[in-house]
Amino acid sequence: MPEDILSKIKDKYAELGENPKPYLEGLLYSKPITYWDYVDVDALLSLQKPRTNFKDEFVFIVYHQITELVLKLMIHEVEQIVNSDETTEKLLKEKLKRLIRYTDMLITSFDVMKEGMSHKDYNKFRLTLTPASGFQSAQFRFLEIYCTPILNLIHKEKHSELSEQPDANEYLEHVYWRLAGYNPKTKSRSTTLKLFEDKYLGIFAEYIDKAKGNTVYDKFNQIEDASQELIHLMKAFDNAYNVKWPMVHYNTAKYFLSKKGEVKAATGGSEWEKYLHPKFQKRTFFPKLWVEDSILDFDKKE
Ligand code: HEM
Repeated sequence: MPEDILSKIKDKYAELGENPKPYLEGLLYSKPITYWDYVDVDALLSLQKPRTNFKDEFVFIVYHQITELVLKLMIHEVEQIVNSDETTEKLLKEKLKRLIRYTDMLITSFDVMKEGMSHKDYNKFRLTLTPASGFQSAQFRFLEIYCTPILNLIHKEKHSELSEQPDANEYLEHVYWRLAGYNPKTKSRSTTLKLFEDKYLGIFAEYIDKAKGNTVYDKFNQIEDASQELIHLMKAFDNAYNVKWPMVHYNTAKYFLSKKGEVKAATGGSEWEKYLHPKFQKRTFFPKLWVEDSILDFDKKE
């Protein structure tokens, strides 16, 4: 072994106050690392537990799991922006390119949920999942909270209902996604929403406090003279996440739940036709970038 590597190893353990000898000797006996241990393949492939015998339910579970992994990759990128001390244009561009690529993966693959999936079987196995819904995916919400100040996740008409200095919990009472399960007339929540809030409200509040002043939008606003390229990337990500993905998702919901004029109830019980459509939600992470054009029309101009 070259002397310099040996002496660097000695230095490393000396810094830790450790004797390097047993560590080096351990190398004589340790087993070689394998692909399957490193990637934890066996654990990963044992996570699918269909509740019925319909073949497509397996596809449905795996595709949701793939989506969760991609969202995890996206949060990994967004956290580097949120946690950066000095956010440069270079860092933002690099991270946005990845975020767009990951969102594109979700958009271009979503037809796995539609093409080849038996309409009849889906409408049977989905009933065994009531009241669970993709709506309860917390990673979608973590991403949103990291991307934009929480006020932007509240419909404009509701802003007047907020107190002067709302805390995270108050914001969460008005956040747009509650519309999927909260009935303001009866002041009651669907089971889907209640279970979701019981599990995640506290964690969402922590994320909101942590992201305050540090969201992707805040970091972008700190950049002086942002280039056209950066602005374009911000808009492309906003449009992909808040319009293109919601549209492929909505079209799939429509295919399965509203054929021949009949609108079926969703497992999460929302008024899904309205709730899921971007033209009703008009959600955007970066509102000031859409003064001259609309996030809904972005695609048409590309
Ligand atoms: C056959 C496939 C699918 C159908 C028919 C479908 C249908 C629906 C419906 C009707 C809702 C509204 C809430 C409710 O009442 O349940 C919803 C919400 C949602 N679903 Fe899906 N979904 C499908 C696949 C997926 C997949 C693969 C994901 C990825 C994790 C997903 C993630 C979500 C999310 C994040 C929401 C909330 C959207 C929002 O708040 O704007 N869905 N889905």
